[in-house]
Amino acid sequence: MIRLDKYLADMGEGTRQEVKKYIRQGRILIDGMPVKKPEYKVDEARQRVTLDGRDIGYSRFEYYMLNKPAGVVSATEDAADRTVVELIAGRKRKDLFPVGRLDKDTEGLLLITNDGALAHRLLSPKSHVDKCYYARVQGLVTEEDVKKFLAGVDIGTAKQPERTAPGRLQILDADESSGVSRIRLVIQEGKYHQVKRMFAAVGKKVCYLRRESMGSLVLDAGLKPGEYRKLTDEELRELRDL
Ligand code: URA
Repeated sequence: MIRLDKYLADMGEGTRQEVKKYIRQGRILIDGMPVKKPEYKVDEARQRVTLDGRDIGYSRFEYYMLNKPAGVVSATEDAADRTVVELIAGRKRKDLFPVGRLDKDTEGLLLITNDGALAHRLLSPKSHVDKCYYARVQGLVTEEDVKKFLAGVDIGTAKQPERTAPGRLQILDADESSGVSRIRLVIQEGKYHQVKRMFAAVGKKVCYLRRESMGSLVLDAGLKPGEYRKLTDEELRELRDL
């Protein structure tokens, strides 16, 4: 059960003050009957709420898979840049946030939701959730690097060492003529600029980075950078089972 004014505000129909006005104006019907009390408790699972005759269904949680484009920040608000949440044009909830962060110039899979408990589980170091990245790297990545990543590399400073947990590095190709390598890297941590700092630790520079999966959730190949879709029921079930 949820207060009528909160129900409408949660669904993006206006601020709490605005929706209270609509309610008092008699524009809201519940199961066909006008309700003029903002504090009225709606049974969101059973009752039908309309505003000016338009159905307003309630969704407590929303889950979107976004292919984050470069140039957009992983935040809910930003004074200077567009945010990943602003890209979800079809969103109803106002409390959506990205699960973890990708750098401004990184592309790829980002889960956008308002389910704090799920986000917490996915991000908790205790959960050991695999994150798989594809990268183009300036420099020839070697089997030596693969071994170093597996042992964990120091991405800290001279004053403050910071060793990563093991990362599984796969060399897709290392092109001698261009000096560029293409790799996949699976890590379970999410330290600041982690992939870039891991390559910097072995003397190489990431020039393109894309996240391809997070736990069971795999970036839909049909989504171009900037596009998104809702998670399927199965994707959600699998994420919850992680
Ligand atoms: N590692 C990075 O360096 N950047 C990202 O955006 C994600 C992982």
